[in-house]
Amino acid sequence: MPDPAYWETFFDPHCILSRLGCDGSRRNVVEFGCGYGTFTISAAKIARGTVFAFDIEPEMVELTQARADAQGLSNVAVSVRDCCENGTELDDQSIDFVMLFNILHIEQSLELLREASRILSSSGVIGVIHWRSDISTPRGPSVEIRPSLETVRDLGDSVGLDSSDLIELDCCSWHWGLTLRRQSFRKARSP
Ligand SMILES: C[S@@+](CC[C@H](N)C(=O)[O-])C[C@H]1O[C@@H](n2cnc3c(N)ncnc32)[C@H](O)[C@@H]1O
Repeated sequence: MPDPAYWETFFDPHCILSRLGCDGSRRNVVEFGCGYGTFTISAAKIARGTVFAFDIEPEMVELTQARADAQGLSNVAVSVRDCCENGTELDDQSIDFVMLFNILHIEQSLELLREASRILSSSGVIGVIHWRSDISTPRGPSVEIRPSLETVRDLGDSVGLDSSDLIELDCCSWHWGLTLRRQSFRKARSP
C-alpha cells in the first residue's frame, strides 16, 4: 500500500460506509484486513458497539490501534490475525456490519466470505468495495486479479449470501460497491 496520507486521498470513508448501510443502527462491526484503519476509525465513530479490526501485518494493527487511541475511541479491538487461515473466532451471527474493503483480490477470498457469512447477524450486511477494472486507476492490485462484481456475487451465493445490485460510489470514483446479506431460510435450503 502507498503511504497512509496518499491512500486516504482515494476515499471518503464516512460516505462509503453510509452508502453501504453502516449507520448508527449497527452494533458490532468487523473489518477484515484493516490496513491503516482508514475505515475502521470511521466505523468506530458510527457504530454503537465494538469495531473488531484484523490484519495479518503487525504494523497495520499497531497503526490502527494508535489512531484509535489518539482519537479516544475505546470501541476498537484490533488484532494481528490471518483471517483466511484462522477466521475471526467471533461468535456465529454476532456482527451487524462486515467490511471487505480492497481485500477480495487475495487468493483465499472465498474463505473470507465464508467467515463473514458465519458471523453475520440475520439482519446484518456485508459491504464490499474494490478497485474498478473498467477504467485506469491510480493504485490497486493488477487488473488480472481484481475481483469483478459478478465474481463476488457468485462466491457469496456459494456461501449462502444474497447480493445487491452494483452500488455506484459517487464519493469514491475509482471503486465499485456491493452489499451481501444472509439468504432467506427458504432460499438457502432450496436446491
Ligand atoms: C489493500 S489493504 C486494504 C486495507 C483497508 N481495508 C482499506 O481499504 O483501507 C489490504 C489489507 O489486508 C491485509 N490482509 C491480507 N490478507 C489478509 C489475511 N489473510 N488476513 C488478514 N488481513 C489480511 C493486508 O495486510 C492489508 O493491510
